[in-house]
Amino acid sequence: MRVAVFGAFGLLGKALMREWSGDEITGLGSRAADIRDPVQVRAVVEEARPSWIVLAAAYTDVDGCESHHDLAMAVNRDGAMNAAAAARKVGAKLLFLSSDYVFDGRKTSPYEIADARNPQSVYGRSKTEAETGLLDAMPDCCIVRTSWLFGTGGKCFPDTILKLAASRPALDVVNDQRGSPTYTVDLARAIAQLCRLGAAGIIHVTNAGDCTWFDFAREIVECAKLPAAVRPVSSKEMARPAPRPAYSVLSPKSRLRLGIEMPSWQDALRRYLRERQD
Ligand SMILES: NC(=O)c1ccc[n+]([C@@H]2O[C@H](COP(=O)([O-])OP(=O)(O)OC[C@H]3O[C@@H](n4cnc5c(N)ncnc54)[C@H](OP(=O)(O)O)[C@@H]3O)[C@@H](O)[C@H]2O)c1
Repeated sequence: MRVAVFGAFGLLGKALMREWSGDEITGLGSRAADIRDPVQVRAVVEEARPSWIVLAAAYTDVDGCESHHDLAMAVNRDGAMNAAAAARKVGAKLLFLSSDYVFDGRKTSPYEIADARNPQSVYGRSKTEAETGLLDAMPDCCIVRTSWLFGTGGKCFPDTILKLAASRPALDVVNDQRGSPTYTVDLARAIAQLCRLGAAGIIHVTNAGDCTWFDFAREIVECAKLPAAVRPVSSKEMARPAPRPAYSVLSPKSRLRLGIEMPSWQDALRRYLRERQD
């Protein structure tokens, strides 16, 4: 396969570039092509002539999206449509990265792929509009919804917790948002598998299991044997510009049907901590 990865210098992009073997991969950053510009996107795709485009580029600052609505829509929604148009032009398939934030978080059992989207934030709306636009324009595209990404090579929750826990006696972490942490290494392998399978439609891919941010932080601090105390607080006490879903666990059924196995988030965290030390 020839694969073009947009967002190759992001958290997931770096893992995709490192983990993907056996295929010809072209990594594209924002300097090679701004995905908001259909001409630039088409030019790099025509040059790479991929059989798959993996769109991992996005405006991912969830709070920033609230005050930069137009930018969020231009990158996350229009950028996706530009990638789809370029894919169609060269006969490539498209795999788009979406988010658990397309859901409102009112469920108490895992979200299935057909559950109604009801995003609560601008970021979630930009992903929702990208999903619906793509499914209209390119019904055989593959939409991978994931959540709570962590990995080496960029800012992520465990990295922040480790840095804070090394310098503070106690950390306050929200305990009323539940989701599934996902290691970029495991997600990158799953994405390569999905491309090889020629997957289409919406697929949920996260590490197995779920927790709150507080549970996740406590596990990080314990694994790293740091003395800092982790204290549970509510989202109200830690107000942020963008509302987050209280519950955004994604059902694994869609990936299991395709034979995609994902390790538990606890196992993934231990491998991340080892990778971080290397
Ligand atoms: N992080 C999470 O917790 C999470 C959760 C659910 C879903 N996702 C989705 O998973 C995907 C990967 O996320 P990530 O955490 O790896 O993101 P990330 O680290 O923020 O990287 C995103 C990349 O997008 C590129 N980008 C931004 N604007 C661009 C533009 N206008 N044109 C071209 N490239 C642009 C940037 O490229 P340069 O560095 O070259 O400027 C950046 O490296 C995204 O679609 C994200 O929405 C992430």
